[in-house]
Amino acid sequence: MATGISTDILIVGAGPAGLAASALLSMYGVENLVINKYGWLANTPRAHITNQGTMQLLRDLGIEDRAMGLASKQKLMANNVFCHSLAGEEFGRVLSWGNHPARKADYELASPTEICDIPQTYMEPLLLEAAASRGGKIRLNTEFLRLDQDDDGVTAHVRDRLSGEEFTIRAKYMIGADGARSIVAEQLGLTMTGQMGLSGSMNILFDADLTKYVAHRPSVLYWVLQPGARTGGIGAGVIRMVRPWNEWLVIWGYDSSQGELKLTDEEATAIVHQLIGDDTIPVKIRSTSTWTVNNMWATEFSKGRVFCMGDAVHRHPPLNGLGSNTSIQDAYNLAWKLAAVLKGQAGQGLLDSYSAERVPVAETIVTRANNSIKDYPPIFDALGMTSGDDPERVEALMAARKGADEAAKAQRRALNDAIRRKNYEFNAHGVEMGTRYASGAVVPDGTPEPGFTRDAELYYHPTTWPGARLPHVWLDHDGKRVSSIDLGGKGRFVLLTGPGGAGWRAAADNVAARLGIDLPVISIGPDGSDAHDVYADWFYQSGIQEDGAILVRPDNYVGWRHDSAADDAEALLDAALSQILARD
Ligand code: FDA
Repeated sequence: MATGISTDILIVGAGPAGLAASALLSMYGVENLVINKYGWLANTPRAHITNQGTMQLLRDLGIEDRAMGLASKQKLMANNVFCHSLAGEEFGRVLSWGNHPARKADYELASPTEICDIPQTYMEPLLLEAAASRGGKIRLNTEFLRLDQDDDGVTAHVRDRLSGEEFTIRAKYMIGADGARSIVAEQLGLTMTGQMGLSGSMNILFDADLTKYVAHRPSVLYWVLQPGARTGGIGAGVIRMVRPWNEWLVIWGYDSSQGELKLTDEEATAIVHQLIGDDTIPVKIRSTSTWTVNNMWATEFSKGRVFCMGDAVHRHPPLNGLGSNTSIQDAYNLAWKLAAVLKGQAGQGLLDSYSAERVPVAETIVTRANNSIKDYPPIFDALGMTSGDDPERVEALMAARKGADEAAKAQRRALNDAIRRKNYEFNAHGVEMGTRYASGAVVPDGTPEPGFTRDAELYYHPTTWPGARLPHVWLDHDGKRVSSIDLGGKGRFVLLTGPGGAGWRAAADNVAARLGIDLPVISIGPDGSDAHDVYADWFYQSGIQEDGAILVRPDNYVGWRHDSAADDAEALLDAALSQILARD
């Protein structure tokens, strides 16, 4: 057995969750080591929809521009198209991911960043570079086998897959980011709720020039509704753009009860041609793989010194595009907490807030993604595709909706309503951005939770209510245009105040010195303030009086706020930060 290695934080898994954790911990100056079973990163471009929550994290890491350079931009994601095949009849479209004029403003107002499409095969190398260039250690071909933990740390038993040699890695804490078949979660005995393996789905990655069928209706997802599309899978067939308009991924269901599926290139090409609806298109199959539809999340994310994140603790179909996004944002939630504990700035109790804050997110996104599958049958029903296997009868029913009689009118209404309902998959901005935390790392201010004036799944409702994401507004700062979220991040707490808030500055200096943390105070207000509220958006959005204060956590969530100036500012701030940091 080789001699062991030691590190502060061992991360098992180099997927989006593990690499984001490493990049953040490295930025915070925390020693960490990532191990990955395989010799490289994702070999198929699974995740792609990259929401503004993830983009804000990349912005904090200083790699947003690099990410945008790799991305297909928001406007290329404009449509979700429902069709019989790419070459065949189109049933309707949904303007998606904030591309509807009525939704564009919601997305632009929510964040300085843009929702975009970054295939996982591009995102992972970017995150790996962000981690390794900041000091994160990455060890490929290294397989996690099992773990022991005690009061002082965790011992992981691993195998070098090149030499076959087994050795141990000793860490103060460990992160299990080892995906949907997580051995770490299994060994911890994390309680799971829901079901795995609900149905089988296949990915066929291929090259083909489909410009003539797609360029006039740009999209990343073309939904193919054909008889057979409802066997297994995610509710319909999908032709997904990987790179416009030559690289694609077909997602098609299969009956997983018949055992493992092995596709030849000829069979894969036949499926691709069937979905394109034109077998004269030259197709080059790159790879095929299978995966299962899951509906499961863990009701606790950690035990002792081991924390799980990503698909290890939330497993669901790709609808809504939430998997990698949520995995990366798990890392944002945990990394600063581990850093604070390791630097002696926080008590261990802070780490309890990780499960408290992220389990409800897991439940929300797993449920949302599975509900999006349930929204497909009404589309098939309205088209008459659930009326048996006789193709002539199905065709007749599909054609019937074009008539002028009342039945045809009702059929059209049913189809249009069912397609519109898919806004809950393609424009669920509230699900993407609207998380509000409740835990020991959030100190309530005694005000009731702000209500939702619009549908909470579709619309993000920005607020500075403690536990909510810090709202974005544009400001001028140091001669530059910055977002309010740019004032925070980088692993630090910040205290935001305004005219009349000088008392908070003195309080913050004293509290920061006592707790041994960095706590910059930034005033937002008229010219001459640290940040100039040029559009007065902060004035209306801050939710407090100008001489009040908002304590922003390193993950850009509001930890606490106080409405106005206070004689006992130092005591108030000390109490709030001490609670968040679980300090005695
Ligand atoms: P992930 O599975 O990516 O990584 C796990 C890592 O652990 C891998 O590096 C693996 O090698 C390693 N590992 C496993 N066992 C190990 C062991 N014993 N020892 C060492 N290493 C080990 N999401 C999204 O946000 N937007 C989207 O648009 C889509 N679209 C999409 C389409 C399709 C077809 C699929 C199948 C999935 C998506 N997703 C998605 C989901 C997304 O791909 C998924 O949620 C993330 O990859 C999860 O990231 P993790 O880092 O948690 O696990």
